[in-house]
Formats: sequence, C-alpha cells, structure tokens
Amino acid sequence: MTVSLTPPTFEDLLSQWERQQAAYVAHRESRFQVMLDVLDLLCPADPTVLDLACGPGSIADRVLHRFPGARAVATDYDPVLAQIARSVLARHDGRATVVEADLVSADWSSALSAWTFDAVLSSTALHWLSPGQLLALYTELARLLPPGAVLLNADHLRFGGDRQVLRRLSAEHDSAVQREAFAGGAATWEQWWELAARHPELAPLLPERERRFADRPPQPLAPLEFHLAALRTAGFTEVGTVWQYLDDYVVFARR
Ligand SMILES: C[S@@+](CC[C@H](N)C(=O)[O-])C[C@H]1O[C@@H](n2cnc3c(N)ncnc32)[C@H](O)[C@@H]1O
Repeated sequence: MTVSLTPPTFEDLLSQWERQQAAYVAHRESRFQVMLDVLDLLCPADPTVLDLACGPGSIADRVLHRFPGARAVATDYDPVLAQIARSVLARHDGRATVVEADLVSADWSSALSAWTFDAVLSSTALHWLSPGQLLALYTELARLLPPGAVLLNADHLRFGGDRQVLRRLSAEHDSAVQREAFAGGAATWEQWWELAARHPELAPLLPERERRFADRPPQPLAPLEFHLAALRTAGFTEVGTVWQYLDDYVVFARR
C-alpha cells in the first residue's frame, strides 16, 4: 500500500476497504452480484434492505446504487465502521440509516422495529458469532421478517470433519489471492486500520471500538450444514445456497 501524508477521506477509506476485503475474499464482487440478482428476482422493485454487520456500508451502498427506489438500514457494532458508513451512505439522499447494534445482545433488533424488511444481507461477518449465537440471531431474524422476505449470508464456511483436502485447497487458494493482492498494493487488515486511525473524526472513536470488541475470541467452526439446519430450525421455509467458490458461499433462506 502506498502511504500518503494527507489524512484519508471517508471515500478513500471505503475504496481501500473494498480492495482490502477483496484480498481476503477472492470473488467478493461475484458474491455481491448474486445477492443483488436474487433481490431483483424475488423482492419488490423498491426493497427495504437490512445490511447486517455492514462495516463501512459496502452492501447498502451497492443496493442503493442498483435499486434507485430502495431503502437500506445498515447496522454494525463497530463505532468507527458505522461512522464511515454514515458518511458514505449520505450520498444516497436520505435512503440509508445507520444503526449501531451488537448482534449478540438480547435486544439487538429493538432499534429496527420501525422498518419492515424485504431482505437481510450480510457478508464476511457472521463467522464472529458462536453456533449458539447464530441460532439465536437466525431465530430473531425469522421473527423480524415477514413471510416471503429473504436472508442472504455470504461468508467463508470452512470445511470441517474429514474434508481435509478441500480445507487445504481452500487455504492455499486464500493465501495465493492475498499474496497477489498485497503485492498489487491492497492494504492488509492491519494497514487499513492504521489508515483509518489517521482520520481526525475516527481516531477519537478507536478506544470505544477497543472496549466494545475487547472480549470476542474466534469462534468454533460452523460449517454450511450447521447454517442450513439452524435456519430451518429458526423458521425459514426454504434454505439452500445460491453461490459457492471453494469454501466461500452465499447462503439463501426464505421466510
Ligand atoms: C469483515 S467485516 C465485513 C463488513 C461488510 N459486511 C463487508 O463485507 O465489507 C465484519 C463486520 O462484522 C462486524 N461485527 C462483528 N461482530 C459483530 C457484532 N457482534 N455485532 C455487530 N457487528 C459485528 C464488524 O464490526 C465488521 O464490521
């Protein structure tokens, strides 16, 4: 990554975020494309969409670009990323709202009761939740969503059990993609956070970010089969996958 002396703008941070995340997710844009195509095929022309664990608003931004009548609620617990989302999504003329909420708290959805969602989209985030927390989240989403609404979750769902070759292939592919992206100038996760810390409005939010995520250890593996079973148990009527590349999936569930 080339380091500039001037502090980054919010737009710089979003574009550097996209390059950084694309280093960790080989076909990030294809995933998003499938998610938006499913929205197009299944939802009203002007959908109301929840971007769950939105980071700097990557999904909401794409939804609002593609569907000019759509509305998006973007939610995340990270105060730094939520502030970037608030700033960059402001370009969509009031069609976006950003809500800070911790998805593992019992009342995370209470701030969302004013909206009726046609779809919930999430990417590269729910692996932070334990299997028990995932089931609770899916159960709450099933309660929140009206019949016919869809959930789309894009994430690496690592191969477990006896699928050692698939696990090794996926890990080797990840490493190769990262090497190439970083050699081409993409920021690593750590470098991106160093850049964000240079923004004068974001630097003061970093201690609160530290506090909120102080005790969040990596979670045990929740493979695809777990997600599908948990979604069925939660009350989704039709579940499956709409995209896969090695161990990277877009999971679909219809309420
Ligand atoms: C790798 S980022 C992905 C962000 C965005 N969806 C994207 O694809 O660019 C993972 C996100 O999950 C959020 N996250 C992790 N645990 C969370 C929780 N308990 N509640 C809300 N958001 C959470 C993080 O703050 C971060 O924004």
